[in-house]
Amino acid sequence: MKFFVDTADVAAISELNDLGMVDGVTTNPSLILKSGRNILEVTKEICEIVSGPVSAEVVALTADEMIAEGRKLAEIAPNITVKVPLTHAGLKTCKVLSDNGLMVNVTLCFSANQALLAAKAGATFISPFIGRLDDMNLEGLDLIQDIRTIYDNYDFKTQILAASIRTANHVSQCALIGADVITAPPAVIKGLANHPLTDKGLEQFMSDWAKTGQKIV
Ligand code: E4P
Repeated sequence: MKFFVDTADVAAISELNDLGMVDGVTTNPSLILKSGRNILEVTKEICEIVSGPVSAEVVALTADEMIAEGRKLAEIAPNITVKVPLTHAGLKTCKVLSDNGLMVNVTLCFSANQALLAAKAGATFISPFIGRLDDMNLEGLDLIQDIRTIYDNYDFKTQILAASIRTANHVSQCALIGADVITAPPAVIKGLANHPLTDKGLEQFMSDWAKTGQKIV
């Protein structure tokens, strides 16, 4: 399973990239706002750090305008993935840009039928949002399972990019279900390393080692 980091914070991306944890990056208009940076400049900087797919989202609402924005974003770097919303205009944009050889991530997916449409439009990635479904007392992970089944039934090549990940449990469950990619905030990815028994065990080892009086280097 690939790990994408869901942020436009260049320092956080760089830190996780040094750990080998970044197979790609996803951004959205809210994350660009949070970064306080110009979208074209910050996205270019991210693409200089990360060689995998970097999603940059269009903000127009009509297909013609989305296509123009997508083409402009794709000029930033060869690893740009144009992110479009799951609307009719977004699906049309997905079809046109995919047919032109660009990678497209269809975002804001909340149902299996929406995921089916994105696959038929040639999406490289579909982004079902787990956390936002959980927020409504629905089971976000069930959607990942349903899409996995549907895509496998028909051998769709669109990759399931599980998004709106909030917890470590979301990550492990996505891996068990067989999501192709998860995208999560830096804190969630870093937190996957944490376990109280690791901390406790390390404390014991350090204490015993100090008593040996030895040094390795
Ligand atoms: C996905 O590409 C989105 O950027 C993101 O995962 C949304 O997460 P949120 O629901 O926590 O805002």
